[in-house]
Amino acid sequence: CIDISRLPKETGCFTYDAGFTATASCKSAITYIDGDAGVLLYRGYPIDQLAENSSFLEVAYLLINGELPDAKQFEAFSHDVTHHTMMHEALKSFLNGFRHDAHPMAMLCGSVASLSAFYHDTLDLNDPEQRRMAAVRLIAKIPTIAAAAYRYSIGWPIRYPRNNLDYVSRFLHMMFEVPSEPLELNPVVAKALDLLFILHADHEQNASTSTVRLVGSTGANPYACVSAGIAALWGPAHGGANEAVLKMLEEIGTPDKVESAIARAKDKESGFRLMGFGHRVYKNFDPRARIIREMTHKVLGELGVDDPLLEVAMKLEEAALKDDYFVERKLYPNVDFYSGIIYKALKIPTEMFTVMFAIGRTAGWVAHWLEQQTDPEAKIGRPRQIYTGADTRDYLAIDRR
Ligand code: ACO
Repeated sequence: CIDISRLPKETGCFTYDAGFTATASCKSAITYIDGDAGVLLYRGYPIDQLAENSSFLEVAYLLINGELPDAKQFEAFSHDVTHHTMMHEALKSFLNGFRHDAHPMAMLCGSVASLSAFYHDTLDLNDPEQRRMAAVRLIAKIPTIAAAAYRYSIGWPIRYPRNNLDYVSRFLHMMFEVPSEPLELNPVVAKALDLLFILHADHEQNASTSTVRLVGSTGANPYACVSAGIAALWGPAHGGANEAVLKMLEEIGTPDKVESAIARAKDKESGFRLMGFGHRVYKNFDPRARIIREMTHKVLGELGVDDPLLEVAMKLEEAALKDDYFVERKLYPNVDFYSGIIYKALKIPTEMFTVMFAIGRTAGWVAHWLEQQTDPEAKIGRPRQIYTGADTRDYLAIDRR
């Protein structure tokens, strides 16, 4: 591992690394991945232990602060998050400005960026308490904005956050309660969602987190940084894959069509990839995918849902894991492969899948932003390029071209 920034400037040396496959852009103590062994640790704790024993809010605290909270610390953090869940009333005007059928990711991205207009004046990035408050506000308000965006898109009135509920139940209440039918919260649904938020909470320097850090490196305010992260997450090669997986499974439709889907994915001319397969870092099973697969069976069983798409997904996984093309390229199911089936069982609408990912990942984004703000080695992110354009040439007047 060579620290290029320490080479003498006069060497004029830089590396070409399209897609940053082998470039560390920072030092970080938050998340560790061993892609070959299929290991994921948050602050040293294995993901399966956190999934089994922790809660999303506790994991958010861990990612931000580096240690698990004791009871008092957790209560204080929980209290802070709970008491910043309201969104400013004026934010409703932003939502009202969107077309009724706008994608909730578009509304989330725009509305989170607009938070900078509400809190920018008081934000001194040199003040640790103000930085902490920005992190708390983002974790607290993003579920409120997400649920409001969804309700706007279906023409329902926005529900305010109920602060006597826990993080996940509050979100479900804001999403689904209608005045005529008070929502009966199903503990299986709440637990499954909490677990999905934990599994999505951080994944070191993925595209969206790197985006948050790149924008953060310029000194931009944290709401703008996280909004940029949301935009990066939206793409189907990243967080948008969960929505794309469900659409793909629906398109395949029945297990007997799986073989032709596999053949199409192997044909480069087709432009079709198996969504939810492959990962830049994992060249083994994504440990989150293992946990989600197990949970999918459990949740569907407990909710009594018989979803034919699960059968298609299992057949697809089985066929791909036996196929030389996928084996040679080490393409395994990733976190998004099964998450869509669970979201569907939890009655989360398809266009909200990536929004759900964003809610969980906010914990990681703010943890990285906070870490970057106190990193003495942090610099503005400014990659170089290999220039492939024209040599120097003279300007020609338009009538001589
Ligand atoms: N289906 C078919 N072929 C694939 C797939 C796939 N899902 N993924 C990669 N390949 C093939 C590529 O065509 C390439 O083949 P080649 O060596 O013959 O040219 C090889 O595997 C390597 O693929 P790259 O695109 O170079 O790998 P990269 O690390 O750049 O991409 C990515 C990783 C974007 C995740 C890719 O595997 C993909 O597009 N997967 C589908 C989308 C997806 O599930 N994204 C979610 C990722 S996880 C997350 O963000 C939460």
